[in-house]
Amino acid sequence: MAEKIIIDSDPGQDDALAILLALASPEIEVLGIVAAAGNVPLSLTERNIRKICELAGRSDIKVFAGCNQPMTGPLVTAEHVHGATGLDGAELPEPTMPLQEMHGVDFIVETLMDEPAGSVTLCMLGPLTNLGKALTKAPEIAGRIKKIVLMGGGCFEGGNITPAAEFNIYVDPPAAAVVFGSGVPIVMMPLDVTHKTLTTRARVNAIRDIGTPLAYAVVGWLDYFERFDVAKYGSEGGPLHDPNVIAYLLKPELYCGRQCNVEIETESELTKGMTVADWWGVSGRPKNALFIGDVDADGFYALLTERLSWLGREELARQPMLRLV
Ligand code: BDR
Ligand code: CA
Repeated sequence: MAEKIIIDSDPGQDDALAILLALASPEIEVLGIVAAAGNVPLSLTERNIRKICELAGRSDIKVFAGCNQPMTGPLVTAEHVHGATGLDGAELPEPTMPLQEMHGVDFIVETLMDEPAGSVTLCMLGPLTNLGKALTKAPEIAGRIKKIVLMGGGCFEGGNITPAAEFNIYVDPPAAAVVFGSGVPIVMMPLDVTHKTLTTRARVNAIRDIGTPLAYAVVGWLDYFERFDVAKYGSEGGPLHDPNVIAYLLKPELYCGRQCNVEIETESELTKGMTVADWWGVSGRPKNALFIGDVDADGFYALLTERLSWLGREELARQPMLRLV
């Protein structure tokens, strides 16, 4: 039976690839996608999610708007990485599929209460505001969540928005603290692993060779997205963060990590949003997360490329001129 998931996302080019990977994969049933405020404001992320669903030919997916502000303090965004739209690098038509009326937090709560306990996995690709709010509003959902797989944090790799903090956790540390304190099984994709899935030329070319309009859009996004990190790290390509969350569900054998305690720094100005991961088990605090540290990066890109090649073919058959785009 397909694994039921809710995706929470702030697209973001790498979010877009994660969503496409999920929509392409028959092992996964996407119950709905909730927009988070993060890389760009909520008004853009909810629209971007609908654009991505339509690109995949999945206008049947239910898309919800979540919170437009973190639990406390002003929203920090990342246009310097993702561009003003959040999806710079490929222009997609304005979406025509509807945004659902229900608030994204209510959708999370209601779905978890309606579906059998322990059957729904939450895939978190942005700041953790919506889930933090849902767990605060309805603490009874904690025992009903199968697991949370999230992209966020870092340990040996440090931070990317400050020296200590990774962007998704930094934007809403109180929400992250609620999630990491919830007792729900957590699988965490930190910078330590996502910095190993680099968009090298060979990998991007393999996606381009798929030859569909969808693949060309993806390549446009990747070319745009990597420029910031290539300049920053001097690496061959940029780290493709969020698709690791979905790839883990599809092929956990690509990953390895260690069960350890992870706490969130919510107070200090210097280290706010830091994920204090007790990799060496020196604190005696309870182990609350599987901290993923390594990945078979070639296996990850093989999976991603295969699945992207399964999407968008019907559209191509309907409109052969798209081949020229
Ligand atoms: C995370 O922050 C965003 O910029 C990306 O979409 C990813 O979720 C990486 O730190
Ligand atoms: Ca993201």
